Amino acid sequence: MSGSARREVLTEPEPDAAREVDPAAGPSEEVEDEAGLRPRRLEEFVGQPDLVEHLDIVLQAARGRRQPVDHLLFAGPPGLGKTSLAGIVATEMGVGLRVTSGPVLARAGDLAALLTDLQPGDVLFIDEIHRLHRSVEEILYPAMEDAKIDILIGKGPTARSIRLDLPRFTLVGATTRTGLVAGPLRDRFGFVGRLDLYSPAELEAIVARSARILGVDVEPEGARRIAERSRGTPRIANRLLRRVRDFAEVRGDGRISAVTAAEGLDLFGIDQLGLDKVDRAILDALCRRFSGHPVGLTTLAQCVGEEPDTIEDAYEPYLLQQGLIQRTPRGRAPTARAWAHLGAAPPSGQAPEAALF
Ligand SMILES: Nc1ncnc2c1ncn2[C@@H]1O[C@H](COP(=O)(O)OP(=O)(O)O)[C@@H](O)[C@H]1O
Ligand SMILES: [Mg+2]
Repeated sequence: MSGSARREVLTEPEPDAAREVDPAAGPSEEVEDEAGLRPRRLEEFVGQPDLVEHLDIVLQAARGRRQPVDHLLFAGPPGLGKTSLAGIVATEMGVGLRVTSGPVLARAGDLAALLTDLQPGDVLFIDEIHRLHRSVEEILYPAMEDAKIDILIGKGPTARSIRLDLPRFTLVGATTRTGLVAGPLRDRFGFVGRLDLYSPAELEAIVARSARILGVDVEPEGARRIAERSRGTPRIANRLLRRVRDFAEVRGDGRISAVTAAEGLDLFGIDQLGLDKVDRAILDALCRRFSGHPVGLTTLAQCVGEEPDTIEDAYEPYLLQQGLIQRTPRGRAPTARAWAHLGAAPPSGQAPEAALF
């Protein structure tokens, strides 16, 4: 059972961070740094002012009543702070934290074992909760509602179900898209917090905070350059800070000025809008390969060598926010801004959707 849960550890690579981590290499610098950079208290959590205010009230009220917090669901693209918030909830409530994820809980018994092992008030964090198996999800309903689980004992005609009492606990779920969480499960959360992409000013504050923790010498203008190219995402801001730090140490005196930041980011292929290779491959496919005609998600994903889910969760939100692509009933299409960004002219007579912007 120990394989499917961790207590108080948020240091292992997460699914969306794992793509870039060589498992054989042990904890990478990035993974270790990320653990150290996580905000631990609500007041350290930069940005998302509405969400933070609402959560603060929910936590304070529960503390005042000496009750566990209601079940919480956090939704938003990767790297915006969902896992950090789960840790913050446990810390602010002074309770234990158990961490697992939808794909890891293969059988109902895995979840039952986790639930029966909880201490009163504990936070159980299920990452990627939209990927829970249906049979596992069904265990969760009575657990969330009545703090009970039904366990099937035996097999065949002699099988019987017994009902066990659980301690009151708080389920914190995270998902990249609320639309993927089954309705009955979504309805059992007392609070749903949506995380939006961060503004450049918020990202600048995050870069400055991370630089302080890592002991990196960064000028405000340097932090701003990194923030502007972080695709609205704190995890990316921290990653770019580390790459620019490398660049500044090897090619400069270690100090990150506006010029060092811009040169370092250019060198690592992060362009003025913060687009990386995959972002540009998406725009290139939409504009050049498909000449601006709407393209289905699966086709687009194949073109750029990524999973459709990754495109939809990790790449599309920023491209949409920047007005570079649009979703049409017939698929994704580039906007005039995408053509301009690639330095190309849209072909005449292209699909009308693509000409809107
Ligand atoms: N609001 C925030 N303030 C400061 N740092 C943040 C914030 N949100 C995220 N981070 C940083 O980004 C990293 C990724 O956040 P994480 O909680 O793992 O995102 P998610 O679980 O949504 O993918 C964290 O390690 C932390 O350093
Ligand atoms: Mg996470």
